[in-house]
Amino acid sequence: MAAGIFDSGLGGLTVLGAIEARLPDLPVIYLGDNANAPYGVRSPDDIHARTKAHVEYLWANGCDLVILACNTASAAALRRMQEAGVPKGKRVLGVFVPLIEALTERQWGDNSPPREVAIKHVALFATPTTVSSRAFQRELAFRAIGVDVEAQACGGVVDAIEDGDMILAEALVRSHVEALRRKMPDPQAAILGCTHYPLLEDVFRAALGPKVSVFSQPALVADSLADYIGRHPQMIGDGEAARFLTTGDPARVSDRATQFLKRSISFETV
Ligand code: DGL
Repeated sequence: MAAGIFDSGLGGLTVLGAIEARLPDLPVIYLGDNANAPYGVRSPDDIHARTKAHVEYLWANGCDLVILACNTASAAALRRMQEAGVPKGKRVLGVFVPLIEALTERQWGDNSPPREVAIKHVALFATPTTVSSRAFQRELAFRAIGVDVEAQACGGVVDAIEDGDMILAEALVRSHVEALRRKMPDPQAAILGCTHYPLLEDVFRAALGPKVSVFSQPALVADSLADYIGRHPQMIGDGEAARFLTTGDPARVSDRATQFLKRSISFETV
């Protein structure tokens, strides 16, 4: 058994890197649907069907616990999967809640009524499907009042990263930050609401400037997972080394992953 980590492609590796640093003994199976990335321009039904199939694969292959290390899949599929019922002994968790708890200064699982928080103006950078789902705003409204969120759908960024065209990805990030600033000139905080974006965190930070606090998910998700596993140690599993699976071309995906994680990663066909 192991913990499963699922993303549409390479973005979940940013979460995997933080999980490995925080929980070095946790066995993981990573699954990237690279053949079908990006998810962020697909319909919610399509994303739900693909996510559900991959999560069920991971459940059937030894992962009792699956992390959707993908905001787009979390936005389009998580609630629907949980409401439809998860098999006994299995869990699927998303990546929104740890981020929103950090933004709203809450401890894990603090379900007290929404209240005023220090941050009032938030810029959300995410995929087109995540932005149109308004899932981030919905989760935020459960916890905070009076927060103004301006969302920027960052078209093209995930495609460029998956294609390995980081020059294009950087240029697109700068232009999306400019577009956001035309709508909200002075955000106090920025949310990198796609797990691919931490690969460009320096570019976001430089474009946003030093006055904007940037919230990036990998370390927040890893901390929250460590907390969850502390309370549910039976979910750890007893697998061995990490395994990396892809629906795409394993050689190509391995090259990109090795470049991003700065160590040799070898993907196999799922
Ligand atoms: N990494 C996914 C996310 O967090 C990516 C999206 C995509 O495939 O468009 O939203």
